[in-house]
Amino acid sequence: MTDTERAAAVEQALGKLDLDTKARLLAGQNMWSLPSVPEIGLGSLVMSDGPVGVRGVRSTADDPSVALPSPTALAASWDPGLARRTGRLLAQEARRKGVHVLLAPTVNLHRSPLGGRHFEAYSEDPYLTGEIGTGYVAGVQDGGVGTTVKHFVANDAETERFTVDNAVGERALRELYLAPFEAIVKNARPWGVMAAYNGVNGSTMTEHHRLQNEVLREEWGFDGFVVSDWLAARDTVAAITGGLDVAMPGPHTVYGEALAQAVRDGRVEESVVDAAVRNVLLLAARAGLLEGVPAAVPADALPAAVDGEALAREIARRSFVLLRNEPREGRPVLPVDPTRVDGLALIGAAARDARVLGGGSAHVFPAHVVSPLDGLRAALPAGTRLTYAVGADPSDEPAAAGQGFALRALCRDAAGQLLGETALPSGQVQWTGDALPDGVTYDALHTVEVTGTFTPRESGAHHFGTRGTGGFRLVVADTVVFDGVQEMGQESDPFEAFFGAPLDRGTVELEAGATVPVSLAYDVFKMEGMPIQAVAFSLVHRGPRRDPDELIAEAVAAARDAEIAVVVVATTERVESEGFDRGDLRLPGRQDDLVHAVAAANPRTVVVVNSGAPVELPWREEVAAVLLGWFPGQEAGAALADVLLGAEEPGGRLPTTWPVALADAPVTRVEPRGGVLAYEEGVFIGYRAWDRSDVAPAYPFGHGLGYTDWEYEGAGHEPGGDPDTLGVVTVRLRNTGDRAGREVVQVYLAVPEDDTTDRPRRVLAGFLSVELPAGGATEVRVPLSRRAARTWDETAAAWRTPAGTYTAEIGRSLADPRLTVPVVVSG
Ligand code: BGC
Repeated sequence: MTDTERAAAVEQALGKLDLDTKARLLAGQNMWSLPSVPEIGLGSLVMSDGPVGVRGVRSTADDPSVALPSPTALAASWDPGLARRTGRLLAQEARRKGVHVLLAPTVNLHRSPLGGRHFEAYSEDPYLTGEIGTGYVAGVQDGGVGTTVKHFVANDAETERFTVDNAVGERALRELYLAPFEAIVKNARPWGVMAAYNGVNGSTMTEHHRLQNEVLREEWGFDGFVVSDWLAARDTVAAITGGLDVAMPGPHTVYGEALAQAVRDGRVEESVVDAAVRNVLLLAARAGLLEGVPAAVPADALPAAVDGEALAREIARRSFVLLRNEPREGRPVLPVDPTRVDGLALIGAAARDARVLGGGSAHVFPAHVVSPLDGLRAALPAGTRLTYAVGADPSDEPAAAGQGFALRALCRDAAGQLLGETALPSGQVQWTGDALPDGVTYDALHTVEVTGTFTPRESGAHHFGTRGTGGFRLVVADTVVFDGVQEMGQESDPFEAFFGAPLDRGTVELEAGATVPVSLAYDVFKMEGMPIQAVAFSLVHRGPRRDPDELIAEAVAAARDAEIAVVVVATTERVESEGFDRGDLRLPGRQDDLVHAVAAANPRTVVVVNSGAPVELPWREEVAAVLLGWFPGQEAGAALADVLLGAEEPGGRLPTTWPVALADAPVTRVEPRGGVLAYEEGVFIGYRAWDRSDVAPAYPFGHGLGYTDWEYEGAGHEPGGDPDTLGVVTVRLRNTGDRAGREVVQVYLAVPEDDTTDRPRRVLAGFLSVELPAGGATEVRVPLSRRAARTWDETAAAWRTPAGTYTAEIGRSLADPRLTVPVVVSG
């Protein structure tokens, strides 16, 4: 069916709707869906988070999802083709879970490493973000599932995220923050965009007429629907006239009855409501939810099935960035030869309890997680000496009860009658009203009892606690640990206030291996006027505290006794998540001390860093190798073993500059002043700023080593071709090492030497990854984006291309150019 035919069908359906139904449709029906309208053959449209997996409406562990590596990891592959395959897998997952629209991808920029959701966005560079985002959106929509590119726009930090007004100059908006949205809208035609919580230059985004109606729709030709971020719509008239189509979550939003009334009172033209409904009906038609209109991708045209586990593992190893790999006795320490290694000491809490996902709405429940310990154990030949030591505990806080617990949730009404029950893979309960266990309704639900057993791994004083608002009674091995009420917190973020921090309620002495009963009875907290019906609380636990010096000493002894020491360091969910920013870039707990000590004991120390965003690595020059593993998703340990033992090459390149210390980063403040966060640095974020600073970063943009060597043998420039490009750079590339490998050829466009204007000296203009066997050579053709030479002229309110002879720097990273060619730009 053509777009015109689909538009005609939408028009017909629209004509049959009365005002109240239209207003109700735009208000949402519950947490995740829009209402059906059977009279016009319209099915209920279901949305779900998020970038690394499809949660599904239940979003609980009894309905697991494939959990992929973090978006920073996907971007580190520098491979839009891989992003497209990722999208296809997510579409398959969405279909399996009855989801029509995925609330992803997140294409805000890495303005500051402090941004709490940094791990959930791709890069500090708008071009790389746009390319990866385009691949991702195209892939999801290949599978007949919609996307909402988010969060439009400038949602680059979390502090006061509901109210902050970001003061961003037009040039920075155009050249940086809007650019990925623009590229994706033009190249992948997303079915949706999500309006952010924050404001930009005085108007909250859900009401931003200029950016939503004029720029997004009129200028760029966006023809999808605009949905609010959850609870972001605040004003009926301002939102509908400002270009917001759907206010979520329903049904108590500023649309619905309030919108119908605004039309009746003459405050809103009905045609404005019609325009929004038209967008929603078009979306429904594309998703196959409007009777008589074939879906955009009919069932017989769906892409071939994707193996989720295999893809999760592939993305992980393709994303790992080998930051450093120094020789020891003449040979780089990685890869480790598994047939010859004389003992391997694996160290770190995250090596055993893997840190594979960021927190917040991007969190999903995988069916399994392969830890580094499991992965290495499985990959090393039988008989290899593999020892393990915790080394350091990254957190002082208890976390959701997991390892060693077997739990169920029993749901009861006020009379104590059992309404329903469900298995729980962890102590975290997070149900929204429409996703309660079978037989349970929000209105009837009064208490939830998390009950089961715990078999400790270690003897000693185990800490137990609660997270959430409401009444709790916590009993472990017949000891009442807590019986009381937790009041609501005062945080500015309603989600955080409701959920709160994990609270340690007391200890119980337990013996390793001896199973004990556990019960946490929770009186469900129902707040008056709460727009979301949610049950959210956790049983939290922490193992016995050990003397930190003793833990380090144990790890040092293990490292001394092995040929190679692998230390896995990580951030925790309390460090990188949604709803708050980071205060520093340090690894939590004594992990830095641990690495210093292990490095001093074993010259062949390899550090694996599991964080979604930059952390300071003060010991990086003391160790033989540093491998950045991001949040690697459910196949973490399998992919890690692939790469450490050399079955595969670590394929990633940094999508964001890594500073030595926070103080060196271009933007170090994310707290608004008086409600306003000024983007004072203009267009100078990321490498655009580093490039004019005297301070060198720890690792530059684009950096990443492999296991083979590359020779850039010659380059040229062919002008002409596609008008969106500055022609093509051709590069003769040879793999001069002794094994097959993948190279990411990067091209940066440097401004003409006589250009003294205030603009970034170099901008990423193109890239391409190539795989070659040992000794293989090829010619690579990299189209150069014309946007790299353009600047936004604020006076003329238009793009300008300053003419001159630019230089294309072709190489392995921003700091490692191998060849240059002149590029004449005529303006
Ligand atoms: C997040 C969005 C997410 C939505 C629904 C919001 O708090 O900012 O990214 O899609 O919740 O979970």
